Amino acid sequence: MNPRLEALETEALRAFRDVSDTASLEDARVRYLGRKSELTQVLRGLKDVPAADRSSHGASANALRAKLEEAYAQARTRIEGSREAAPAVLADVTLPGRGIPPGHEHLISQVLREVRDIFHGMGFSLAEGPEVESDYHNFDALNMPKGHPARAMTDTFYLRPDVLLRPHTSSVQIRVMESRRPPVRIVCPGRAYRNEAVDATHLFEFHQVEGLYVDEGVSMADLKGTLERFLKEFFGPETELRFSPSYFPFVEPGAQVEIRCLFCGGTGCSVCGPLSGGYLEVLGAGMVHPNVFRAVGYDPERWTGYAFGAGIERLVMLRHGVPDLRLLYENDVRFLHQF
Ligand code: PHE
Repeated sequence: MNPRLEALETEALRAFRDVSDTASLEDARVRYLGRKSELTQVLRGLKDVPAADRSSHGASANALRAKLEEAYAQARTRIEGSREAAPAVLADVTLPGRGIPPGHEHLISQVLREVRDIFHGMGFSLAEGPEVESDYHNFDALNMPKGHPARAMTDTFYLRPDVLLRPHTSSVQIRVMESRRPPVRIVCPGRAYRNEAVDATHLFEFHQVEGLYVDEGVSMADLKGTLERFLKEFFGPETELRFSPSYFPFVEPGAQVEIRCLFCGGTGCSVCGPLSGGYLEVLGAGMVHPNVFRAVGYDPERWTGYAFGAGIERLVMLRHGVPDLRLLYENDVRFLHQF
């Protein structure tokens, strides 16, 4: 055999025998079997060897290659086997441990809790009602008898002709008043559903917080004071509010409450849009309609009250500058971790 190959054989076999970890094994493989190894050069150079010697040179080079591949395979089995047999050797116990990142409450849940806490601080207690609701509680009792045009104001999901997924939390007003006598002072944060095409500002499943206060002598001034307090606590003490007339069948008078855009201060921007005059609608509200009191058996001559309803996702969007409501439901942790 070519003396060069003989020397190479001794050296390579020793190297494969001595390696003790994956990295040095890989170094040895590259050095002795890799594309630039001496052996590969020899095999490539065979075409230039005189024809008479070519087959014997080729046979010994190929035999060496087979031997080294075998030595490589054995070294690999040895190293991988020892890793399995003694895994503790590889763990450096002096290194700091790998933390398990803790999760946290979803932004929507945080805001629901915060809203509930603010109203709790003003004497409101918590109420709940079913998401699968009767059309009586959702419409009739809220001064929207069958055939009332306002029934079409929201695209309601019907499960049966008289059973639906509530398109607002106002049905809880009826459930609460049916079950107790005034005074009543409740908030109900909860889910609502509408048959909407989903886009940056519409979801078919969302959250609202409903509020209701009924007692003797409750006035629009109480409503304004309460909502002003709430919005200033939620958005900050500088928040400017505007009440303007609006229509909801279950209140009279009805109002929509807007705040001056928090992002541009009212000069117009991508959040409040060019047509809003710098104000953003955050809630619907008003004085409870006498027909609603009649439906639940409260005497409208004696009791007065106010009600309001706010979209939670909208509050989140405005406070945190979230440009697209879908982000709140995609559960991408890179988004959620920011809050
Ligand atoms: N339910 C109304 C809505 O979903 C909001 C509202 C609640 C308005 C209570 C007035 C009083 O848009």
